[in-house]
Amino acid sequence: MTKQSVNLVNHPLVQHKLSLMRDKDRSTKGFRELLNEIGMLLCYEVTRDLPLEMVDIETPVAAMKAPKIAGKKLTLAPILRAGVGFLDGMLALVPSARVAHIGLYRDPETLQAVEYFFKAPQDVLERIVILLDPMLATGNSACAAVSLLKSRGARDIRFVCLLAAPEGIARFQDECPDVPIWTAAIDERLNDHGYIVPGLGDAGDRMFGTR
Ligand code: URA
Repeated sequence: MTKQSVNLVNHPLVQHKLSLMRDKDRSTKGFRELLNEIGMLLCYEVTRDLPLEMVDIETPVAAMKAPKIAGKKLTLAPILRAGVGFLDGMLALVPSARVAHIGLYRDPETLQAVEYFFKAPQDVLERIVILLDPMLATGNSACAAVSLLKSRGARDIRFVCLLAAPEGIARFQDECPDVPIWTAAIDERLNDHGYIVPGLGDAGDRMFGTR
């Protein structure tokens, strides 16, 4: 299977907001608001190719055929906890999307993803699933999430993150060659603790004010 693309979203608004988020002095409130706003902008990009169909409508002036989104519906699938940070921004644009929750935590010793919760809509196989996690670091969580979604029948999965490490992209493309990636930046590398460098630290902690 040919590897799907990595779509780098280098829109100036996204890049500006990401730089504000990286600042270690950004408040929890500011970090959360910015992640939401970037979520909205990334949602705009990841849905760019949704098919349209022409439907009959009547304006106050005349009848016309107008484009509406056709066919497949969306499921947003945040990986808990940091993926939730994208949710409100995306739901503002696609309010009728369903939401799957994927509970995975990173074992601090092995860095492997451990599942603790998974709930997805029954008809997930008929939907486009937008998998959400701000940080594509080792790729362990993202790969585990894709395999959980596929075990429920999901066939059309797209992965949206904020930052990606080259190591995570390579791993993800090897294991999930059919899943395209959207990211706002590709950073230098992972450090020995599996953190993205320069990155922005622990996205979940920064979003929820924990440590
Ligand atoms: N998860 C994070 O929150 N930050 C990283 O740098 C890597 C994984």
